[in-house]
Amino acid sequence: MTRKSFKPGNMLYPLPAVMVSCQIPGEQPDIITVAWAGTVCSDPAMVSVSIRPERFSHGIISRTGEFVINLVNEQLTRCMDYCGVKSGREIDKAEECRLHLIPSEKVQAPSIAESPVCIECRVVQTIPLGSHDMFLARVEAVTVDETLMDEKGKFHLNSAGLTAYSHGEYFSLGRKIGSFGYSVRKKPASDHRKSRTGKRNTAIPKKKGSDQGRTKE
Ligand SMILES: Cc1cc2nc3c(=O)[nH]c(=O)nc-3n(C[C@H](O)[C@H](O)[C@H](O)COP(=O)(O)O)c2cc1C
Repeated sequence: MTRKSFKPGNMLYPLPAVMVSCQIPGEQPDIITVAWAGTVCSDPAMVSVSIRPERFSHGIISRTGEFVINLVNEQLTRCMDYCGVKSGREIDKAEECRLHLIPSEKVQAPSIAESPVCIECRVVQTIPLGSHDMFLARVEAVTVDETLMDEKGKFHLNSAGLTAYSHGEYFSLGRKIGSFGYSVRKKPASDHRKSRTGKRNTAIPKKKGSDQGRTKE
């Protein structure tokens, strides 16, 4: 197998493209679309967003030290793209997109009511990296759309229709093909499921209830 060599660049895909909301109290809020975002620590829960210093939102987050990461689903994808090509310097993006900004629980930055998951963050460190400054932040609170909870209090994030960003294009998450640790999970002796070739297919996830809550990455 031969391989083509590319010059060093960002090729870590798919990623979530998220809408990051921020606001200087009393001033117009802003929403910036960010793909260079990540989970960086489990305990304490920490995330990072990398934003170019020239962005309007960069100034707001630098001043307030707060922002909210709003996850994006299929219905929000057009707004997410719009917030990624227009600057809050010229327009009020929440108003243009008819998004409802609501008070957050632990930070002054507002949350987007239409988002399935809002992650409230407080900056602990700003790291200049070159083109982007990385805001390293602690997660102060998480709120979720209640319609994603079932009557037993179980959270069904994967029913939210989350959007993935890959190499310049947006995708709706597709078919479930496994779950955390499924490659080593013991199968019950009665599991005689066969693949189309007739051979026992260890790659078919068991048809039990959906994944339970947290993983231990
Ligand atoms: C899918 C997508 C991902 C983006 N990711 C980032 C990012 O990670 N960091 C960044 O600084 N800008 C990113 N941008 C560009 C900003 O969202 C864009 O410049 C926006 O208009 C800035 O808004 P503001 O000036 O109101 O802050 C992205 C845009 C899109 C469409």
